[in-house]
Amino acid sequence: MESSQRFSSLAFIALLAYFAFLASAELHVREFVIQPKPVKRLCRTHESITVNGQFPGPTLEVRNGDSLAITVINKARYNISIHWHGIRQLRNPWADGPEYITQCPIRPGQSYTYRFTIEDQEGTLWWHAHSRWLRATVYGALIIYPRLGSPYPFHMPKRDIPILLGEWWDRNPMDVLRQAQFTGAAANVSDAYTINGQPGDLYRCSRSETVRFPIFPGETVQLRVINAGLNQELFFSVANHQLTVVETDSAYTKPFTTSVIMIGPGQTTNVLLTANQRPGRYYMAARAYNSANAPFDNTTTTAILEYVNAPTRRGRGRGQIAPVFPVLPGFNDTATATAFTNRLRYWKRAPVPLQVDENLFFTVGLGLINCSNPNSPRCQGPNGTRFAASINNQSFVLPRRNSIMQAYYQGMPGIFTTDFPPVPPVQFDYTGNVSRGLWQPVKGTKAYKLKYKANVQIVLQDTSIVTPENHPMHLHGYQFYVVGSGFGNFNPRTDPARFNLFDPPERNTIGTPPGGWVAIRFVADNPGAWFMHCHIDSHLGWGLAMVFLVENGRGQLQSVQAPPLDLPRC
Ligand code: C2O
Repeated sequence: MESSQRFSSLAFIALLAYFAFLASAELHVREFVIQPKPVKRLCRTHESITVNGQFPGPTLEVRNGDSLAITVINKARYNISIHWHGIRQLRNPWADGPEYITQCPIRPGQSYTYRFTIEDQEGTLWWHAHSRWLRATVYGALIIYPRLGSPYPFHMPKRDIPILLGEWWDRNPMDVLRQAQFTGAAANVSDAYTINGQPGDLYRCSRSETVRFPIFPGETVQLRVINAGLNQELFFSVANHQLTVVETDSAYTKPFTTSVIMIGPGQTTNVLLTANQRPGRYYMAARAYNSANAPFDNTTTTAILEYVNAPTRRGRGRGQIAPVFPVLPGFNDTATATAFTNRLRYWKRAPVPLQVDENLFFTVGLGLINCSNPNSPRCQGPNGTRFAASINNQSFVLPRRNSIMQAYYQGMPGIFTTDFPPVPPVQFDYTGNVSRGLWQPVKGTKAYKLKYKANVQIVLQDTSIVTPENHPMHLHGYQFYVVGSGFGNFNPRTDPARFNLFDPPERNTIGTPPGGWVAIRFVADNPGAWFMHCHIDSHLGWGLAMVFLVENGRGQLQSVQAPPLDLPRC
């Protein structure tokens, strides 16, 4: 064969392979119509904001490598934006969704198409509104299957069940938020938790609609547990059944077995469950893990795991037997929560950055803003103050005139500054008895710049200001490795020596131990403006957030793409 001929036949084969690869990837075109819909829970009907009239919203099922084009049509009376929680959105912050961070909100009557591709991700993620408290009802599962022919690292059951844990208010959640924003006090806690939108047997007017999962004896199923709740970490358990954890936040783990999981808002956990108990009916239940010294919703949501051959009662009172109830940890059982989280390991050796270019230390916690008139109706926080929250004493305020990403891209000044502090402005005993003079944060819209491909370490240090608490910290645009954690103050001399740089769990949301710290590492390989915040919406509203501005690299494939033409304007 002549060499040019040989070359062209090789090129032809390569081209064929490329087309086969493309053909296996799909484009999912969907419409998400944001619209009010009457939803009855706890004996009362509310006009809930929904996607396509569904609550919870539609489940998206895609494969690694697929693309999505989701047109969000806003037929509600609120501004809205949708976030694809955990999707990396490589070089494409325009599709990420947080309002005023990467886009201006979609106004009533307008629409925007989120176009993005799944690049090297598989597992359970989810989507939700990223606009004030609309995610109370606007959320759904986003399931990414591996590429065709690509195996799971464990024996994947045939059946797969999404379990969306949510929080329900017997009021319009936007009014609950508005009231809290006016008074400066903490928002009312929710009235119920839900499993796939239903509170379950332990709430008024709910029994007839409790979610039931039929199961065959001996069958193994995968539960994709998602905490879509606004403000509460949850314990989740299934009566008499062990759960084998295989994945968290779309990253596989070394499998391990437990009777209970703890899951913070924003997190996902896949578990396998085998129906190896006596044929019967078993509750799955979730209730609060409350680490703070603060009011919380102490109710319990349930669904029923029902063996198809469960016996029924005979004779009088004939019908289904009562389900068995699981043992759940106490509300403040930090030992159980920590023991669970500490068992998580990446499924294989993890490519953790070993050298660190950016060594960041962030205090995270609550605060109080003093009022000149403490008797004002707007100062109903503790002792006539308003609640706040901060990272390194900076209480984040969303811009209004433009989004940070658009302002950055257009070079528009006056929207944000890039002087977010890499360390706290003052050092103090973060988890001790903090003097009152350090309780008041400063408001601002500050970002922190990262060089393209910098190896970043962040130690997230909870403070005891107002109350120590588990803060589920979420980073947009990235997955990170959780290399270490502990209680008390982080010690930079002794703690790093104990970091797990071999198989630390990979996540997109990690809770600070209450009164403790957690260390994460990632490579800043995704240029753009990326929000990092506490996934407790009350805390987010109080300012527990900041933005990373990751600079472009040199190459074309290292720079943020051009924005889509229909990107909403402010
Ligand atoms: Cu799931 Cu910024 O959020």
